Amino acid sequence: MTLPRAVRLVEVGPRDGLQNEASPISVVDKVRLVDELSACGFSYIEAGSFVSPKWVPQMAGSAEVFAGINRHPGVTYAALTPNLQGAEAALAAGVGEVAVFAAASETFSQRNINCSIGQSLERFAPVMAAARVAGVPVRGYISCVLGCPYEGAIAPAQVAAVAVELHAMGCREISLGDTIGVGTPGATRTLFDTVAAVVPRDQLAGHFHDTYGQALANLYAALLEGISVFDSSVAGLGGCPYARGASGNVASEDVLYLLQGLGIDTGVNLDAVVGVGQWISGRLGRANGSRVALARTCA
Ligand code: HMG
Ligand code: MG
Repeated sequence: MTLPRAVRLVEVGPRDGLQNEASPISVVDKVRLVDELSACGFSYIEAGSFVSPKWVPQMAGSAEVFAGINRHPGVTYAALTPNLQGAEAALAAGVGEVAVFAAASETFSQRNINCSIGQSLERFAPVMAAARVAGVPVRGYISCVLGCPYEGAIAPAQVAAVAVELHAMGCREISLGDTIGVGTPGATRTLFDTVAAVVPRDQLAGHFHDTYGQALANLYAALLEGISVFDSSVAGLGGCPYARGASGNVASEDVLYLLQGLGIDTGVNLDAVVGVGQWISGRLGRANGSRVALARTCA
């Protein structure tokens, strides 16, 4: 398989990143983060989530974030929604796309959204209907595609079974999430090969967390499988609050450096992303999780 000429990056730092940060961050800073990422050239930014603030307090205020951002033409500002209540709030806030999130593991589904995989799919049906009426597309996530913190190994067929359901209910794109970053490139290739047999390859995306330092290698493996949409997070922010030990997403800066080296176009300015990553890391009082940013900013 030849490598794609262009890749679309889904910048998930303001959502997947900030949802797991211990230090509180103000709406003003969230808005600034989204605005600065827009200026870097990302065409898709996940700017928040409409979930229960009792479950994920970091994402409270997402409606205010959507009201405060400066929307750049051509940029999709998306949000996570677990149920109709979240979808209605998200649509009222003017999101450009909603994302539903399921899991390939029953235990993770219970811990993350308090219901079985089957029940979650039932809850997504009214979300799909509301989004259709509003003319807003829907993205689907599947978590734990390469391993679960509670159940261990996950068979690719389990992922394919959920992907088929999300695709059939109308998800425009399905992002396969290595929530706890345990995957390796061989398993990643097998996974995408299996899922691409039942959902068109150009409707699949990769979402790699870097817990075991494999995220960039897994992303490259997915590129070799013909995948051309990847989720990444500025400064490698984040993790999942319901997956203990899960570290951040693959850093956007590191993905950009890899793709530039391969001559693959993204439309995103690496130097600008390094600047944003330095600012938000300082604001959160945490080390920058991007190796490229460290290399570029050390004295
Ligand atoms: P529940 O407790 O079963 O919900 O939680 P419920 O329907 O019984 O409602 C209980 C209360 O929550 C009620 O309020 C509802 O109004 C409220 P009360 O009457 O007690 O005051 N509620 C809501 N409030 C705001 N927005 C909503 C909403 N829904 C109900 N949408 C629920 C079920 C799904 C709500 C909960 O489990 C939840 O919010 N979970 C979110 C978990 C989450 O955000 N996890 C992180 C994102 S997933 C991820 O990071 C993985 C990903 O990155 C891919 C990867 O890496 O694998 C995407
Ligand atoms: Mg994630």
